[in-house]
Amino acid sequence: MKLAIIESPQDKYRLKRDLAARIIAAYSGVIRLYAFVRFKIIHLRFLEEMEQYLPDEGDLLDLGCGFGLFALYIAACKPNARVIGLDVNARRLQIARVAAAQLGIRNVEFIQRDLRDWRPAQPIAGAYALDVFHHIPLESGNRLLVDLFAHLKPTGRFLLKDIDTAPRLMLAFTYLLDVLMSPRDDLAYRSAGAWQRQLAATGFAPIYLHFLWDLMPYPHILLICDKPA
Ligand SMILES: C[S@@+](CC[C@H](N)C(=O)[O-])C[C@H]1O[C@@H](n2cnc3c(N)ncnc32)[C@H](O)[C@@H]1O
Repeated sequence: MKLAIIESPQDKYRLKRDLAARIIAAYSGVIRLYAFVRFKIIHLRFLEEMEQYLPDEGDLLDLGCGFGLFALYIAACKPNARVIGLDVNARRLQIARVAAAQLGIRNVEFIQRDLRDWRPAQPIAGAYALDVFHHIPLESGNRLLVDLFAHLKPTGRFLLKDIDTAPRLMLAFTYLLDVLMSPRDDLAYRSAGAWQRQLAATGFAPIYLHFLWDLMPYPHILLICDKPA
């Protein structure tokens, strides 16, 4: 009798942990340190959850991809999808491209766009934004949501990971780090409820809100938003 070997959760976890380690190692100097810290903040449990909500095929947008850490992660986990990372910062994108080449991840590309006035050009299977919308003025962010919704394919999914406005002490901690990393941005945080109302007004339904809390002092929230069929 042949025994079927089923991949255990531990095996899966080890694979993901190794993938994260390889991604971190693809950067050098201070960016490697940043990548290490970022993978502690958005750690594997969060990524595992986000990965499960995203489609396995089609174009997936990483809005405000930064150095491309999570675009690379999602692209490696979803070989049949094409991940398109967008960011306004040309230097970050160039570093992301070098990391992708070093890792041999080919189903990812990085394009410079300012999300305040960028509009999608083609139908999108899914999109996600990790800690980006609070770097964009409210009006531009709302307009971006409308355009994104219009270009998502029916049953397409949008994941919004951002920061809640409560507890205030946690928000203050996040704010200090944001000011340190992005001193020129106009930071605009919204409460989980305000996000839910805005996303519903845009047309997304259903919208699920998850609190991604752990030992780190960040009021992380994840909104899982579907475009109705
Ligand atoms: C906190 S970082 C998050 C980066 C990445 N999503 C991650 O989780 O590591 C915010 C990113 O948003 C980008 N960003 C800020 N304003 C933007 C804009 N108007 N258009 C495009 N990207 C923007 C910044 O360049 C930065 O890379």
